[in-house]
Amino acid sequence: MRAAVSGPLLLLLASLWRGAPRASELRYPPGKIAVIGAGIGGTSAAYFLRQKFGKDVAIDVYEKGTVATINHFVKELGLSVPEGKGGLMGIYNGEEFVFEESSWYVINILKLLWHYGLNPLRMYMWVEEVLDKFLRIYRYQTHDYSFSSTEGLLHALGGNNFMEMLNGTIDEAMQKAGFSQKFINEIVTSVMRVNYGQGATINGFVGAVSLAGADSGLWSVKGGNKLVCTGLLYASKAQLIPGAVLSIEEKTWPKRSGGTMKLYEVSYNSSSGLTANAYDIVLIATPLNRKMANITFRNFNPLIPEISKPYHQSVATFVHGRINTSFFGYLDPSHFHLNDIFTMENPKLFINSIGMVSPVQNRNDEQKKLMGPAVWKVFSPKLLTKEQLNLLFLSFDSVEEKKWLAYPRYSPPEKCPPLILHDRIYYLNSIEWAASAMEMSAIAAKNAALLSYHRWYVNTHMIDQEDLNEKLKTEL
Ligand SMILES: Cc1cc2nc3c(=O)[nH]c(=O)nc-3n(C[C@H](O)[C@H](O)[C@H](O)COP(=O)(O)OP(=O)(O)OC[C@H]3O[C@@H](n4cnc5c(N)ncnc54)[C@H](O)[C@@H]3O)c2cc1C
Ligand SMILES: *[C@@H]1O[C@H](CO)[C@@H](O)[C@H](O)[C@H]1NC(C)=O
Ligand SMILES: *[C@@H]1O[C@H](CO)[C@@H](O)[C@H](O)[C@H]1NC(C)=O
Ligand SMILES: *[C@@H]1O[C@H](CO)[C@@H](O)[C@H](O)[C@H]1NC(C)=O
Ligand SMILES: *[C@@H]1O[C@H](CO)[C@@H](O)[C@H](O)[C@H]1NC(C)=O
Repeated sequence: MRAAVSGPLLLLLASLWRGAPRASELRYPPGKIAVIGAGIGGTSAAYFLRQKFGKDVAIDVYEKGTVATINHFVKELGLSVPEGKGGLMGIYNGEEFVFEESSWYVINILKLLWHYGLNPLRMYMWVEEVLDKFLRIYRYQTHDYSFSSTEGLLHALGGNNFMEMLNGTIDEAMQKAGFSQKFINEIVTSVMRVNYGQGATINGFVGAVSLAGADSGLWSVKGGNKLVCTGLLYASKAQLIPGAVLSIEEKTWPKRSGGTMKLYEVSYNSSSGLTANAYDIVLIATPLNRKMANITFRNFNPLIPEISKPYHQSVATFVHGRINTSFFGYLDPSHFHLNDIFTMENPKLFINSIGMVSPVQNRNDEQKKLMGPAVWKVFSPKLLTKEQLNLLFLSFDSVEEKKWLAYPRYSPPEKCPPLILHDRIYYLNSIEWAASAMEMSAIAAKNAALLSYHRWYVNTHMIDQEDLNEKLKTEL
């Protein structure tokens, strides 16, 4: 009689075959999990980790600055103003306005038709189509499915079409879909410049996300308002550790029950000096980049490849002053009605956009504010010089500036960094290379929580499933 291979032995053989850690060793719940970064990504991750792993696991969240609240974020950037609403928008090419909104709805429609034909309407439908596919992620995640790479996640949502969008520019994607070059250069480019400080050369996927944000508000701060980082952190019952993580090292530790186990030692610098803690699982929720998180990986085998893709600098300058309408070609300021100016690609231009921050109540107020001093928010790639401020403003009394390494410097074909950096180390910000937005960070956080859970308990059938759309249809 042939000896039957028993269940557990089969499992063991299977896991040895794959070179994975022995399942029997990992079937116990993890003791401690670290999350690095308390932005929207890190705090949502803590929340979803608690949901998945239950109440007994200890979750530590490291933050070197202060825990961001969306409100803080909104206030700091003046994003609370529904841009383009209440006031009028214009697109400036560096010489003149190629498009100016009118306060009359019917005139606007006619203007849009005259300038761009049916392109605006088609854009609405095109973006809707991308969005419909993308929104499948919520159903997949409700059913607990996870993905081991950003590309895999996108492919499961939108197939080769999404891959092609990641491979090419938004300009190429929209040309291929039949949009006019004029429409792309004027409308699409100026929206990209406002949202990502870069033109229509950014990848097609982030471009579509950006356009969706421009007309549906899905990816805007308003939609994310409920996801306040401090609230998420509180609900997760995680411990916040104020300090900057400097390095992560793989170490072998003796087990109480005998034998050894591998843990990750996270070293950080806090007000009480340099300290370290050991973890079963680590989630990194901040861009890995020498100029940003600068985390060193020590003694890893296999080596963790250096991830230091460039982030694009964006400067927000808040100026209280009177705008120089002649700079934009309006010699008579009483003819100037705009309070949001978008720009096209032009090397001569030193700003990406300028908009009034204080909300506009009615026409009279608007006119008063446009003429008199108001708070303006200027986005530019570099800090504005005194000379540049003197060109933009007739007079001003206060200037506040904030410099960010805001979003990836997109350069398709885009290759997203790995989500799995090591056996049990996950990198959430990989998703920013597909598209950087708060909603995306929250999705990446839930995916990482599910992925780390399924890998810990070796639920391979919950990872990287294709055709989920069909599968889940028959399930309902
Ligand atoms: C100017 C600007 C405007 C934006 N506008 C919008 C918008 O309108 N809508 C939208 O959806 N998105 C917008 N975004 C994008 C959005 O902010 C990001 O997608 C999102 O904040 C990324 O979240 P995150 O949690 O991954 O990273 P972050 O918010 O960057 O959080 C990372 C955290 O990690 C901390 N940290 C870094 N290194 C360490 C370390 N070594 N140890 C401990 N802690 C560390 C940081 O202090 C930080 O708090 C904007 C971004 C910028 C910069
Ligand atoms: C995307 O580009 C990569 C190479 O950069 C290529 O291997 C892949 O086939 C391309 N995918 C699609 C769908 O175009
Ligand atoms: C740790 O932080 C202190 C002050 O917060 C700083 O002076 C010191 O240089 C930091 N050390 C390291 C190794 O980063
Ligand atoms: C990043 O950290 C390493 C090691 O701690 C240090 O040598 C290097 O100077 C840091 N780089 C930057 C840009 O801060
Ligand atoms: C306003 O803009 C015009 C045109 O760029 C420029 O000549 C002028 O110097 C600027 N400043 C003032 C105070 O008019």
